[in-house]
Amino acid sequence: MRLGFIGTGVIASAVVRGLAGQGHEIRVSARSKARSSQLEAEIPEVQVTGLQEILDQSEVVFLGVMAEAAEAILTDLHFRLDQKVVSFMAGASLDRVSTLVAPAKAAAVMMPFPGIAQGGSAIMALGDEALLNQIFGTRNTVFTLETAAELEAYLCAQAVLSPVARLTADAAEWLGKRVADPAKGEAFLRLLISSNLAVSNSDDLIEALNTPGGFNQRLRLYMEKAGIGEDLARGLDRLEEG
Ligand SMILES: NC(=O)c1ccc[n+]([C@@H]2O[C@H](COP(=O)([O-])OP(=O)(O)OC[C@H]3O[C@@H](n4cnc5c(N)ncnc54)[C@H](OP(=O)(O)O)[C@@H]3O)[C@@H](O)[C@H]2O)c1
Repeated sequence: MRLGFIGTGVIASAVVRGLAGQGHEIRVSARSKARSSQLEAEIPEVQVTGLQEILDQSEVVFLGVMAEAAEAILTDLHFRLDQKVVSFMAGASLDRVSTLVAPAKAAAVMMPFPGIAQGGSAIMALGDEALLNQIFGTRNTVFTLETAAELEAYLCAQAVLSPVARLTADAAEWLGKRVADPAKGEAFLRLLISSNLAVSNSDDLIEALNTPGGFNQRLRLYMEKAGIGEDLARGLDRLEEG
């Protein structure tokens, strides 16, 4: 497909890397020069072009700019009626994107994560499921949501990723002070957590790790008693309140 990216920031760059080697023709915008030049140098099917050329040459256009900046960036550009637009912008609804890209079709709002660069990533999205699966489905899993309210709730709940990374980093630091190779310890913990959660739902995993008096049970109960569950629920409520 002919794919275009307006905004070549952190997340758009990860998406482009994840699309490499699949026969697409990919155009990216020049801003974030270090990133766009690197993508062009690294991936044969990527070229850096002007914003209007991206629109003129692409069947599907991805918006990887900040929602607050989108209107000013897009205002002088001309989208086509037969074009599909997929937005990565948190805080811009599908209706808002439709207004920004008329007469093109706002096909989907999609929230990728940096891991999409390597594939095997979870993508949450609202909109054209078939299109997103066609572009991303072979390497990733697209979770298509029913309503804007669901997307908002997923946006809040996905924020658990950073606290999980914090817990992992803290446990790795603790471990690193006690072993010869701290990096090996950190790699072990990351694989332990990701591989177990990849194949089991959370409740089943907790149950499987619930050996009475076992280390996993003891640490979980200690942290639950300290209020980790209530803290998480309160934090998520705060995100929901805005
Ligand atoms: N990071 C994530 O994990 C993540 C996940 C899901 C969704 N998102 C969404 O993705 C969007 C981008 O986030 P990000 O983290 O990738 O931010 P970012 O790295 O700051 O990317 C924003 C990009 O917009 C570019 N830009 C600004 N003005 C421009 C213009 N006039 N013309 C062309 N490009 C312009 C910036 O270029 P300069 O660097 O030159 O200013 C930069 O490349 C946001 O809407 C965010 O909500 C991010």
